[in-house]
Amino acid sequence: MRNLTGEEQQWVRDVLKKIEDKMVPVTQRNLDKIPYTTKDGKFDDKSASEITWWTNGFWGGEMWQLFKLTGNEMFRQQAIEVEDKLDANLMITEGLDHDNGFKWLPTSVIRYKLEKEPKSLNRAMLAAGNMAGRFNMAGNFIRAWNNWDNVDRRGYAIIDCMMNLPLLYWASEETTDPRFKMMAVAHADTAMRDFVREDGSVNHIVVYDPETGKMKESLGGQGYGVGSSWTRGQSWGIYGFALSYRYTGDKKYLETSKKIADYVISELPDSYLVPIDYRQPKDVDLEDSTAAAITASGLIELSFLLDEGGDKYLDAAIKLLKTLDEKRISWGLDTDNLLNNCAVDYHGDGHNMSIIYGDYYFIEAVMKLAGNALCIF
Ligand code: GLY
Repeated sequence: MRNLTGEEQQWVRDVLKKIEDKMVPVTQRNLDKIPYTTKDGKFDDKSASEITWWTNGFWGGEMWQLFKLTGNEMFRQQAIEVEDKLDANLMITEGLDHDNGFKWLPTSVIRYKLEKEPKSLNRAMLAAGNMAGRFNMAGNFIRAWNNWDNVDRRGYAIIDCMMNLPLLYWASEETTDPRFKMMAVAHADTAMRDFVREDGSVNHIVVYDPETGKMKESLGGQGYGVGSSWTRGQSWGIYGFALSYRYTGDKKYLETSKKIADYVISELPDSYLVPIDYRQPKDVDLEDSTAAAITASGLIELSFLLDEGGDKYLDAAIKLLKTLDEKRISWGLDTDNLLNNCAVDYHGDGHNMSIIYGDYYFIEAVMKLAGNALCIF
């Protein structure tokens, strides 16, 4: 990776200062919450309403990153509170799924790595064991979701799962038992074969026959439709395959991350404001800032892993982050969130909102540029 220019280094310092200036008072006025989004600029609280919600680890992860950035003990205490609250989720099997990674990597795994807290090890191993139990041996994939609302999802795998695999890689490193890693690798190979198209665009959902493991169909999922290119899914792909390379050293995952990244860079609009789907109708201006932030962090990860040829990924990442900073972030104290114009999916009504993981990945990405981010994923 090239060194940052003097101007870029100054920009990184300025943004980190703005993050600290905002997040100290915002955290102080939101103690005890696990936010997902904002209503009238104020964080909601998923710990009160839905402890099993898939995003409930990100606030903890944000707290750990901010503790690293500032040394302020308040952030550490809040991170531990989130982790403690997630214990309730460990007793609700219906609320455990492949997103155990998103919940316990930014909470228990990182705390265990930092502090060797035995409770954190227990929690993370329970989460990893449960995730491993979702592996389908006929199809070599990790089942994503449960049968909520009576939909049969026994054969569902999704691109997002690439970001959850580090929980399994970590479990093998921690226990020296290779089985967790074997499952992660088998899933990554399946995803490389069935999710990533020739041009670097990706499927969101692939459905397999749960008995035979044969691929049945792909679904548009949270994107525009079958065969489209959901931007957050693309970002999970860039970042997730880069991570599988980091954990295994297998170059085919690095090449896959590059392939997805090259496609994304070719599709980014001149504005660098990221749509919900790269194949949504041209006259639709729906946006997703979370995809911009995750893409940026994934591209930085990729550029770190490459011996050469990584500059174009770093350049695109910095442009995405600067665009968010200038056009899509509320830096004032009148709102709790950072990023605006986030979207849950294309067809639902969760548009033009704040979403906690958008904030998390923006902070993580800028801290990576400063060489100061905790390696949570
Ligand atoms: N993992 C679900 C999403 O990205 O919305």
